[in-house]
Amino acid sequence: MRGRLVAGNWKSNGNLASNQRLLEQVRAEAPRLRGVECAVCVPYPYLFQTQQLLAGTAVAWGGQDVSQFGVGAYTGAVTAAMLLEFGCRYAIVGHSERRGIFGESDAVVAAKFDAALTGGLTPILCVGETLQEREAGVTETVVGRQLDAVIGKAGIAALGKAVVAYEPVWAIGTGKTATPEQAQAVHAFIRGRIAAGDAAVAAELRILYGGSVKAANAAQLFAMRDIDGGLIGGASLAAEEFMAICRAAGTVTV
Ligand code: 13P
Repeated sequence: MRGRLVAGNWKSNGNLASNQRLLEQVRAEAPRLRGVECAVCVPYPYLFQTQQLLAGTAVAWGGQDVSQFGVGAYTGAVTAAMLLEFGCRYAIVGHSERRGIFGESDAVVAAKFDAALTGGLTPILCVGETLQEREAGVTETVVGRQLDAVIGKAGIAALGKAVVAYEPVWAIGTGKTATPEQAQAVHAFIRGRIAAGDAAVAAELRILYGGSVKAANAAQLFAMRDIDGGLIGGASLAAEEFMAICRAAGTVTV
């Protein structure tokens, strides 16, 4: 039975003082969580602070990106080995903000996925369509293409050591959540696409939903058969809200 995961994506938010308050609250609440893994993906400069505050607890942490390269002359890039040194379990790859704002192609995302995995991290691979693509009826084409790029590069078995996050771009930071049914339909498509390559990998794969998840809508989303948790942006910056979302993932039975 696949486990549940709720991961916070802080994006470019936080400072030493606010992080300390947030992480201390998460750390204090975490022992009460049941049936869900909780993680935070923080900006690189705060990994050391995060490691100091969360080491030895059940809360995992990770980066929000990773270099597709190893050590060497790649100014600004942070390698999987560096993330590992700071205790990271996860690295987000292919977030729509990386794809859209930083121009990362499917091929770059696939290379980053591969670098994370071979470097000993669990990649959280983000996929999702824009509003224009949804309205054009090409959601499955887009998500399928994003998945296939990774499967083509890393192989289907690699998905067995990864997490996928479905994040419709139109629902990110907009307050416009996909309905549980809309999200479930795409999650089922993702699982089906992977099952076509390896049914066992698909059955065990954790597929998170991301896009304006908050405590008030989390339980309905997590009640859907193929939604195994969430990737949380804005709501992960407030400890009470974030922990309520974690609890919603832990207590729901499908
Ligand atoms: P919001 O929860 O702020 O909509 O962001 C979702 C997201 O992009 C998580 O990676």
